[in-house]
Formats: sequence, structure tokens, C-alpha cells
Amino acid sequence: MTKTLSTFNFLECSLTGEKFSNDIARRLSPNSEKPLLARYDLEKAKQTFTKNNLIKRRNDMWRYEEILPVFENENIVSLGEGNTPLMSMNNISNILDIDNLYVKDESNNPTGSFRARGLSAAVSKAKEYGIKGIVMPSAGNAAGAMSAYAAKSKITANVFMPKDAPISNKMECIAFGAKVDLVDGYISDAGKASAIAAEKNNLFDISTLKEPYRVEGKKTMGIEIIQQLNWEVPDVIIYPTGGGTGIVGIWQAIDELSEMGIIDNKKPKMICVQAEGCSPLVDAFEKHQQFAKPFKNPETLAAGMRVPMAVGDFIIFDILKKSGGTAIRISDDEMLNGVSLLASEEGIFAAPEGGAVVSATIKLRENNIIQKSDKVVMVNTGSAYKYLNAMQKKFWDD
Ligand SMILES: Cc1ncc(COP(=O)(O)O)c(C=O)c1O
Repeated sequence: MTKTLSTFNFLECSLTGEKFSNDIARRLSPNSEKPLLARYDLEKAKQTFTKNNLIKRRNDMWRYEEILPVFENENIVSLGEGNTPLMSMNNISNILDIDNLYVKDESNNPTGSFRARGLSAAVSKAKEYGIKGIVMPSAGNAAGAMSAYAAKSKITANVFMPKDAPISNKMECIAFGAKVDLVDGYISDAGKASAIAAEKNNLFDISTLKEPYRVEGKKTMGIEIIQQLNWEVPDVIIYPTGGGTGIVGIWQAIDELSEMGIIDNKKPKMICVQAEGCSPLVDAFEKHQQFAKPFKNPETLAAGMRVPMAVGDFIIFDILKKSGGTAIRISDDEMLNGVSLLASEEGIFAAPEGGAVVSATIKLRENNIIQKSDKVVMVNTGSAYKYLNAMQKKFWDD
């Protein structure tokens, strides 16, 4: 076994700040039932996590090993996740009237979405803890990613998905050898079924933000964005939000990079984009509530944003406030228009979640929340090729 350079120190309750050791597999904070977040020895990390050292390293997200949670190299389960392109949107920047507009294109990840990062981290850490079977509820993309990493690591996988999850996700899970259970309901119902299966079959439940390591993988999106901008923090980051791990992870990256002195204290405005048909976080943020209420009858073609309740809601609100950002709703038609614009102008065929981000950027510019001179990063979290049925009404009229 060879050691990584990980400086992972302990876990901290995101609500109370209570500290917990990292020597056993944990899920939520035992007293508050809120997410646990990994904390690192950043003084030690910064001795080797330097701009120059990073250039010489492996080509995937594990090059940021000092601030990732895995201690032994042999436990890293990788399919080449991360290092996705950050591309300048030269054609639509004129249309949107924003001088410096970028897309971080996460569709280039294994299994076609940003989910690969979180699941690579969570499955690797599960392997490190000697866990033999994992289970998870998912809107679709996370299930596909979990199944792929489970296949690679030879850990048994069981996924619970709403029965209307995209067919691509159902098929890939089967191909990767996972046990697939379809639930007549929403992701929250899949969550209940997954918790029961975990208990009954002695499986480790890696539901989003209910275990601490998926967010660590997602954090690498934030590190990459800043590294690709030559270590400059953008003015605005726009992100399609379901469970919210992406926003939490990106923010964590910015905090840790600034604490290590790699960037200054500038923070980007963080923008949370949700679907009109499922906007629990936008609703609560507008009412200045600390916790969101479950969204009734969620409906949107963006399966990844069909999440009626986010366990990390209060963390997301805190980030939006601290960053001077906001939360915004986008209709399904607007999402498809966003997909169409990005495809026809920039050659990127994005998931509806990515289309939502494009439409949100247009609205935010119109309202002057984004300025013309701002450096703006739109995150496209996934690939349209996973959503062909949902896209058909827009792009293929049979
Ligand atoms: C393509 C896509 N975008 C966005 C999201 C929402 O991600 P998060 O949980 O980070 O809010 C998901 C969730 O499954 C997704 O699949």
C-alpha cells in the first residue's frame, strides 16, 4: 500500500461544528442529523499543493490528493473523472452581452455527468473502509455513476430510482451490474426505500450529503474552474441545483484554496438554478427561511433537478448569502431553449440542467445581476445524450 498526500483530519457537523473522527464510516452527524463535512490540515496541505506541483500530476481529479479524503493509493477507484474543459463561449457572449463567458462542460466525465466525481470519491472511501455493498436513491445520473464505480471496485451496488428516471440511466445501471429497483414516486420516496434496503441488507447508504465524501469529489469542479482560469476567481458561478452538493462542493474548494493562500479572498457570486416545477430552495431563499419545505408534486424534464427536498438546504442558503448570489427558477421550455442555443452556437449538446443555466444567465444579465464585464462560469452538469426522450419534443418532431 502506498500513501496518498491526503491531509484529511476529521469530520465536522455542518450545523453545530461538532467534530468526529474519520476512522470509521459515518453518514449524517449523529446528534443534528445534518451533513458531516471533511476537514483537512491545510497548513500541511499547502506545502505540497502548489501551482507548480499540480502541473506534474496525474490527469484526473485525484491530482488534488492533499484535499481529498483517501489515504491509500490502492483504494482510489478512478475512471478518469475530472479535468473537463472550461471553454470560452465566444459566440453566445455577444448574444448574452457578457464579455467573459465560459462553460465548464461536465458532460465529458465518465458516465456523462459531474456525478462521476462525487461517486469516485464516495466509492473509493467506501473501499477504504472495507465496505462490501452500497445503496443509493438517485434521480438517474448518480445511479449510473455509482454503478460504474461499484463495477470497477467490485463492490455490490443497489440503486433506487423513480420509475420515470431516464431510460439511459436505467440501462447503464443494469449494464454495470447493479441491482435496480424502480419506485413509484419521487426521489424522496426512493430515499425511503433505499434506507430500508440499507438496513435490511447491510448496505452502506451513500445518499447525497447523507455521507460526507460525494461532496469532496464535487469540490474538484471548483478547484479546476479556478486553476483553468489561471488561479483567478470568477465573478459569478451559475449552477443547476437539485440536492445541492455541487454548490456546497464548489464553495468548499474556494474556501480551502483561499485558506491555503493559493487565491485571495475574492468570492464568486454563487447562483442556484432550479426548475419552475421543483423549486424548494428558491422558494425558501426568497422567504429568508433557514430550512426549505418539501416541494409538492415536483415536475420537470430535468431529472437531476427533480429533488423536492435537499438535506443541505441551510448550507446552500448560507453560501448564497455570503457570496452575494441568488436563486432563480427556469421553466422547462426555457431550459430547452438554453440547450438549443448552446448546441447551435457553441457545439455543446447539454443536459436540460445545463440549458437551465444558460437561460438563467440570460435572465440575470437582463436584470443586471450579472454585469457585462463580469467573468461568468456556467456549469453544464451533464450530457443531452442521457435525455434523448425528454429532448425529443424540441429536436425531433416524429
Ligand atoms: C445533470 C444534473 N445536473 C444537476 C444535478 C443536481 O445536482 P446537485 O445535487 O449537485 O444539486 C443533477 C443531479 O442528479 C444532475 O444529474
